[in-house]
Amino acid sequence: MNSSQCHVIAITNQKGGVGKTTTAMNLASQLALAGERTLVIDCDPHGNLTQGFGFPIQELPVTIGDLLVDRTIPSNRAIVRAKAGLDLIGANPGLAQAARWMVTQTNAELRLKQRIAELRRLYTRIVIDSCPGLGPLLNSVLNASDHLIIPVDTGFYGYMGVQELQSEISEIKAGTNPALSILGVVLTMADRTVITRETLDALVAQFGDLVFATTIRRCVALRESPGAGLSVTQYAPDSIGAEDYGRLAAEVESRLMEIRIRAVETAKSEVAHA
Ligand SMILES: Nc1ncnc2c1ncn2[C@@H]1O[C@H](COP(=O)(O)OP(=O)(O)OP(=O)(O)O)[C@@H](O)[C@H]1O
Ligand SMILES: [Mg+2]
Repeated sequence: MNSSQCHVIAITNQKGGVGKTTTAMNLASQLALAGERTLVIDCDPHGNLTQGFGFPIQELPVTIGDLLVDRTIPSNRAIVRAKAGLDLIGANPGLAQAARWMVTQTNAELRLKQRIAELRRLYTRIVIDSCPGLGPLLNSVLNASDHLIIPVDTGFYGYMGVQELQSEISEIKAGTNPALSILGVVLTMADRTVITRETLDALVAQFGDLVFATTIRRCVALRESPGAGLSVTQYAPDSIGAEDYGRLAAEVESRLMEIRIRAVETAKSEVAHA
């Protein structure tokens, strides 16, 4: 497989509890269901995504933290098959130690990018779940990714969180990853309240077309499915959570298609002007 066919999409927001893990888990599952060769990587030491796919975090033989610290371990040794028909590289609290170690090393925040470079030829989609907060793990994820999806929950703080993240993204773009782009902003835990409407309006005012038309509604099955080690589509195929993440995946795919078309057109016009 040509590694240029692979899109690396990170789910980021430094605010906690906005639906990053839920989005990583269910978007990755939907992409796999649509036939994409998909890998999902847990980059949070809490290992919520890993556990959500039914893996007890202390039992994984090789995790993303091991790959970041020890260059001698082949990347494919960390890959396990999640029940949702996609591959997973898990995390455990050892990743927090790895993050502390990283700040003492030169350029360690580029190690995730190097690991992912090795994996690009095996997959067409790599989805990364990131941890809340700023620091070496978020920087690693921003350096390693092509695109970002930012979940925002309803309310003032969710909206403020995106503004802080934007300055972090600008720094990374100006430095080590100029190609990084925001693929979209998605409102999560939406309901019929005024605050949901106001948050959506504020997001559209700031991000315009970058805001996905799909909003992820509050859904009990989304809360319950990780406890069963399943994606929401497997756990409750008729739930609104399954419907919303299916629609989000379709929007993600159509945005990636537009990006590919634009890249081809740019390459053609460069050849024409050469
Ligand atoms: N659409 C939804 N409807 C109902 N509950 C949801 C929804 N999305 C997420 N949740 C629940 O909200 C909580 C936080 O979601 P999640 O763990 O995905 O957020 P997070 O951004 O990854 O959090 P953290 O920053 O702590 O990693 C979880 O209990 C999750 O099950
Ligand atoms: Mg999480």
